[in-house]
Amino acid sequence: MFILNEHAAYRKPLEAADAEVLGVAAARMVEHFLHHREGYKPTPLVSLPELSRHLGIASISIKDEGLRLGLGSFKALGGSYAVIRLVLDEATKRLGRTIDIAELHNEDVRQIAATMTVACATDGNHGRSVAMGAQLVGARSSIFVHSGVSEERIAAIARYGADMIRVDGTYDDSVREAARVAEEKSWITVSDTSWPGYERIPALVMQGYTALLTEALRQMPERPTHVFVQAGVGGIAATVAGHFSVLFGDDRPYFVVVDPSRAACLFESARAGHPVTVEHGESTVMAMLECYEPSLVAWRILSHTADAFMTVEDGDAVNAMRQLADPKGSDPAVVAGESGGVGLAALAKIASSASLRAQIGLGAQSRVFLINTEGATDPKLYQSLVGETPEQVTAKNAQPATM
Ligand SMILES: Cc1ncc(COP(=O)(O)O)c(C=O)c1O
Repeated sequence: MFILNEHAAYRKPLEAADAEVLGVAAARMVEHFLHHREGYKPTPLVSLPELSRHLGIASISIKDEGLRLGLGSFKALGGSYAVIRLVLDEATKRLGRTIDIAELHNEDVRQIAATMTVACATDGNHGRSVAMGAQLVGARSSIFVHSGVSEERIAAIARYGADMIRVDGTYDDSVREAARVAEEKSWITVSDTSWPGYERIPALVMQGYTALLTEALRQMPERPTHVFVQAGVGGIAATVAGHFSVLFGDDRPYFVVVDPSRAACLFESARAGHPVTVEHGESTVMAMLECYEPSLVAWRILSHTADAFMTVEDGDAVNAMRQLADPKGSDPAVVAGESGGVGLAALAKIASSASLRAQIGLGAQSRVFLINTEGATDPKLYQSLVGETPEQVTAKNAQPATM
């Protein structure tokens, strides 16, 4: 399914607070922070010339976040950044002077961090990032997981010293439970989704994601003309659309938000013209996108900046994983998890329809930007869906290409 954005706010300027969160100065600060992170290096921007020829467009550039900070997804940029910001804010307040990231490991700052507990709900990747941030600063973390989160993903979060709390129900139930318990225990909720009265911390999480765009724009020879970004609660999609709109104004690329058809909360919000909660039906293979309520901040930004909303099926997502693992001709192989290749799945769907191509102006001159938002964050599941291990797929790039 595909619809154009017909919201009254469409193409109107962002609200001032949103423009600031995703603005140039904010993106610079995120970069400054990242340069203090051990092991930081930009993720690759992979070009797929054979596939773009096959789809009848000029180029496809895919930012490979599977390699981000050892965490396997772009989420590594958001939750941990927010935790660091919160600790520095608290230290600034308690020590009575501005504390910079360079002082994060000073004894007085660590003592303050040790008194703080951060909490969040997660499908897997956001919790890993928050737990990693807490470990880095010396704070405690309590991470809430719903019944659909795999044991492998829970173990990957617990490795960062987090207390794991299991919640019956869906992701949205775990979000509510995390907020409730955090309130009761005076923990700080570091959520990647926002709701009325709770916007600042999720906005910081989104601000952290801008790093991948700063890197990508440096890596690209030319600006993209079209962008397809997958959505759970809409945080990453809103970051891309919002930041590009701040940077490029009316010249920004055409922006399509992509939802799984089984958890299409942004698509349905766009159809209704306001944020809606969709019914929980059968679960989707795109586990990280299985969210039934949009983030309020993300929805607000997307209502201004997204050009279109569409859905893809589970089969489309798995086909995209396989297509990236077993590329055409000399294109490099990319390890994309179940939610990672969804932007490509959407592009392939549009590219195969003459009327949709015409509707979004996709043609032989188009340069498409996609984000592989995660690598094989659940390696066993990856192998069962793709038929090869992540290591086998990666090894293809070290061998001469075969026909
Ligand atoms: C791998 C991956 N891709 C995409 C998303 C969607 O991000 P958002 O919830 O910000 O829309 C997530 C969210 O957890 C994710 O983990």
